[in-house]
Amino acid sequence: MKVTDTIFNIGINDKKITLFEGQFPVENGMAYNSYIILDEKIAVMDTVEEEFGDIWIENIEAKIDGRKPDYLVVQHMEPDHSSNIQKFVEKYPEAVVVSNKKAFDVMFSFFREINLEGKTLVVGEGDTLNLGTHELCFVLAPMVHWPEVMVTYDKKDKVLFSADGFGKFGTSCAEEEWIDEARRYYFGIVGKFGAQVQALLNKASILDIHTICPLHGPILKENLGYYLDLYDKWSKYQADTEGVLIAYTSVYGNTRKAVEMLAENLKEKNCVNVELCDLTQVHISEAVEKAFKYDKIVLATTTYNGDIFPQMKFFLTAIADRNFQNRKIGLIENGAWAPTAAKVMTKSLENCKKLEYIDNSVKIKASLSEENIVEIEKFADEIIK
Ligand code: FEO
Repeated sequence: MKVTDTIFNIGINDKKITLFEGQFPVENGMAYNSYIILDEKIAVMDTVEEEFGDIWIENIEAKIDGRKPDYLVVQHMEPDHSSNIQKFVEKYPEAVVVSNKKAFDVMFSFFREINLEGKTLVVGEGDTLNLGTHELCFVLAPMVHWPEVMVTYDKKDKVLFSADGFGKFGTSCAEEEWIDEARRYYFGIVGKFGAQVQALLNKASILDIHTICPLHGPILKENLGYYLDLYDKWSKYQADTEGVLIAYTSVYGNTRKAVEMLAENLKEKNCVNVELCDLTQVHISEAVEKAFKYDKIVLATTTYNGDIFPQMKFFLTAIADRNFQNRKIGLIENGAWAPTAAKVMTKSLENCKKLEYIDNSVKIKASLSEENIVEIEKFADEIIK
């Protein structure tokens, strides 16, 4: 796939994979992008997931017209991108592997037998590599998503090779809107590292970027401000959509009745974006993505073993682990004799910053009472106030 006249995506679309990294469902597959830059010197940017090594080498061969690659640039050592380093080195023994010191340390841990003597170029922040007309500039991006990550800017074509940054689930040609699967990918993979993403965005802000080439998902060529703005918001833990996520669990349907009533109330009050999320029915990565999408969240669950329902507990741990913050929160609890879920939910998020709880939670004892129905109406007013 052509990126510019001299840069091509030689990566792979894995349409058979169902679970990325053993935990993220990927209904529309997964892309492992890798790029080749054809110039007086030839550079290959990253490899692909292990099982696609042969096809990837064929993709390289199809572009180099009998020449040999001069460089393999390794931006990230996670195996979805690095698994074929050894295969590349064996196929092209004259090539030099270009990466930073930390990445080489990780590389030698993954590839115990690899011999790169005299075939490495260690680069650091701001170092450049001249390919002829293209000049690559390396920018360290620690923790986006591992500590050894770097991104690369091509001064000639103004392309940012962004490693995991700006990636998404799905193949590079999946016909779906970018935002939801990119948000799920972002918060699933690097959501914890907002400060480090901000640091990278600051470094990128001085670059004149015309194209973003991530290691996953489609190549971004138009309206780049849209994607950069979303990454800025996400990494500052700001919502990108005004609205209310109602995340709930219900054992016998009574908590469900309460949240459905709340959703109706909110819609009647002209709250356009109201989304109900039954935590027992959606994958945790989807629930997390929705939590970070909206600026308000209602948590509704039952008291269970003196604690809260397991899926709610898992959900709250998952968002707290990703620095959930800057949100307005309302709580609904249910318990047949001694509801304590609101207290437990609040405690679960006690280390999250800038959470604004609405004054009154709704306490249901087993099933909705007349008082609860009035409380839910007031609760709706408060959450959107
Ligand atoms: Fe796509 Fe962090 O690897």
